[in-house]
Amino acid sequence: MKYEIVNGELTVDGERFVIDITGGKERRRSDAAAFTLVKTQSFLNAYAQMENQIKPRGIIELGVFQGGSFVLIDKIFKPERMSAVEIDAEPVAPLMDYLKRTPGRNVHFGTSQGDRAALTKIVDEDLGGVLDLVIDDASHQYGLTKQSFEILWPRLSPGGLYVIEDWAWAHGKSRQDASDPWTKHPAMTNLLIEQIMLLGSASEIAEIRVMRQMYVIKKLASAQVGPAPQDAVWKDLRNRGKPQPNF
Ligand SMILES: C[S@@+](CC[C@H](N)C(=O)[O-])C[C@H]1O[C@@H](n2cnc3c(N)ncnc32)[C@H](O)[C@@H]1O
Repeated sequence: MKYEIVNGELTVDGERFVIDITGGKERRRSDAAAFTLVKTQSFLNAYAQMENQIKPRGIIELGVFQGGSFVLIDKIFKPERMSAVEIDAEPVAPLMDYLKRTPGRNVHFGTSQGDRAALTKIVDEDLGGVLDLVIDDASHQYGLTKQSFEILWPRLSPGGLYVIEDWAWAHGKSRQDASDPWTKHPAMTNLLIEQIMLLGSASEIAEIRVMRQMYVIKKLASAQVGPAPQDAVWKDLRNRGKPQPNF
């Protein structure tokens, strides 16, 4: 299906979304009339394509902000169960209302994407152990994004998809100045390169599709599923002992 933003708004399956991609805390709050959605048209096109590729039974989203993406992803993929974590502890009232009227959906506020115990419990209990799609739109920080991947990749079903949004921030024009607050953060590109090396090492990665707004890692149909120690995902990475990338 096509999901088209018209005059900064989108309606899907009776739910209304107002787009706000401005940075910082001044973004619009979701209200009874519409959820706030932090996505451009190119993201919606990518998810519309993915809709033809996978019918996920269980989804985890990392980073919901005002809940717009949680509701939209739910409407696009119609999974049996869907859960999310958001580091902000303050629940979003219209999202809480949506969860109340939509069984099998949970959002855990005040929970970090790097919280192994919380993510493990969500897969086991909220999703009944079935995880087919992960969407990470949370911190966009190398370390935390890697931690989530180390926790959730081993739990992803064979053929499942792991999406990492907004990985390319370090290459944006506005991020090149040494005074930029993100200068101190390692680029997400480091993680992408590590995952490409993992793909090359004949691991459980079937393919990595890289777009500017996101990349999507597909798990091999023959891959294993189950809990694994934090660094187990890297066990297959062969790099001739050379140093890891460090941008
Ligand atoms: C870009 S916004 C998400 C936008 C939302 N997915 C959408 O498209 O409408 C990123 C969100 O991630 C949250 N976040 C930042 N660090 C996080 C962390 N360590 N764990 C979970 N959420 C985090 C932020 O509080 C923020 O709400």
